[in-house]
Amino acid sequence: MTKIKVLFVCLGNICRSPLAEAVFSDKVRRAGLESMLIDSCGTGGYHIGHLPDPRSMAVASDHNIPMDHRARRLTKADLTDFDYVIGMDDENMYNIGKLSSSPTAETFKMRKFDSEGEDKDVPDPYYGGDEGFESVYQMLDRSSDGLLAYIRNKHGLDRS
Ligand code: 4NP
Repeated sequence: MTKIKVLFVCLGNICRSPLAEAVFSDKVRRAGLESMLIDSCGTGGYHIGHLPDPRSMAVASDHNIPMDHRARRLTKADLTDFDYVIGMDDENMYNIGKLSSSPTAETFKMRKFDSEGEDKDVPDPYYGGDEGFESVYQMLDRSSDGLLAYIRNKHGLDRS
């Protein structure tokens, strides 16, 4: 069976999108779904090859979520290789849209799936304090539930 591919996108790929990848992957694993490939990347190239920001790693660890990622940059090919491309904010969505005129991936803003605060941005926590990272985690946790429900429904993946 071909895997359903989900890509999370932010600017630097060190704070929000690697945390989104980790949170969503954890939910997929807990649900016993092996049919998904999950990755993240950034629209900017400043942090290529870097580990996630220590504050993102700390918040993942606080919630017992494993994190394993090195930053990479979004490519045009991602927009046809992946089935779902999920941006964190309006600027990410603009940059995703600019990259290709013929994407085959469905593209969404992450908080479209948030039960609290639909369609708002996941704010960039990079220049703020630790509390911003916990708040981002809560948004990603709620949004991941909604996104997973959407994908399960779309692909007829039974609840276990
Ligand atoms: P992210 O956060 O997009 O959530 O990874 C940022 C990380 C680094 C920078 C900007 C945003 N930066 O300008 O270096």
